Amino acid sequence: MKKVAVIGSISKDFVVTTESIPNQGETVVGERFQTFFGGKGANQAIALCRAGMEVFMLGAVGDDELGRDLIHNLEQHGVDCGMVQNLKNVNSGSAHIQIMNGDNRIVIVPGANDFISISDIETHYEQLKQMDMIVLQNEIPMETICAVINFCDKNQIPVLYNPAPAKEIPESYIDKVNYLTPNEHEFDTLFQNQDLSEMLRMYPNKLIVTLGDRGAIFYDGEHEIIVSAEKISNIVDTTGAGDTFNGYFVKGIMDGDSVKQSVYLGNVAAGLAIQAEGAQDGIPTYEKVKALL
Ligand code: RIB
Repeated sequence: MKKVAVIGSISKDFVVTTESIPNQGETVVGERFQTFFGGKGANQAIALCRAGMEVFMLGAVGDDELGRDLIHNLEQHGVDCGMVQNLKNVNSGSAHIQIMNGDNRIVIVPGANDFISISDIETHYEQLKQMDMIVLQNEIPMETICAVINFCDKNQIPVLYNPAPAKEIPESYIDKVNYLTPNEHEFDTLFQNQDLSEMLRMYPNKLIVTLGDRGAIFYDGEHEIIVSAEKISNIVDTTGAGDTFNGYFVKGIMDGDSVKQSVYLGNVAAGLAIQAEGAQDGIPTYEKVKALL
C-alpha cells in the first residue's frame, strides 16, 4: 500500500445553517447549529484513507478533551497519529462556518495548528523519508510549509500542495512542488494579475485549478483540458469538497493514473462528498466512487 503523509491542520467545525447572513450590526436567527470534525489536513487524511492509502498525519491539537477527540476520530478512520502532538496551554484549532443555500463562509482560529514548527518536521525526517507522497495545505505556518517543500525537494519525495485557504508563497516553492491545486480565488492570490491560460502553460500537469461545479482545468503539455464535474442536484454542504478532491486526486496519481484520470476521480469523489453534511461525513469510500466511474 502506498504511504502518504499529510502535514496540516486538525480542527473542530462549528457550523450554523442559516437562511440569511447578517450585515454589520444586524442579528439574524439561524436554523441549526452542529459540530463536525474538520481541518483541511484532517479532512484530506480521511479522504486518503477512504481511498485506500496508508496515511500518516503530522499535526497538533490542544492537550484537552477536544484534542483527544480529534485524534480519536482520525485513528478511528485508520489515520496513523504517531506524529500528532498534544500541546499544553493551547486550544485545538476551530473553524466557524455559516452555511447558506448549501454554500459556506468560514472563519478559522488556528490554535494548535499554528504551532507546527520546522523542528517538528525535523524530528520526523526519517519517517517522512519513507513516504510515497506528502500532502500540504495552508492552515499551518508558512515557514513550516516552505521547510517541508525544501525537504521534499531535497529527498525527491513527491509533494502535493493545496494552497487553501489563499496565501502568497514565493515562486521558487511553486517550482519545487509536483502538484499545485488552488481554486479560482486561491489562484488569483498566488498568481496576482496573471492570466490563467499562461500560468497553466507554465506549469503543465502540475497546476490544476479547481472550478467548483464546473470541474477542474489543467494543461497537459499540448492542450488545456477541462475535466467537467458531474451535475449534482441535491447539494447539501460543499464544505470539504476540495479536500475530498485532493485526497482522491492523490489516489489516482499513486495508482499510476494520468493527471486527467486523477482529476476525474477527484471530481467524482467530491461530487459525492457534497451530498452529506459536514466536511468528513460525506467523503466516499473508494468502492462508492468506483461504482460511478
Ligand atoms: O476545507 C474545509 C475545512 O476548512 C473545514 O473542515 C474547516 O475546518 C476549514 O478549515
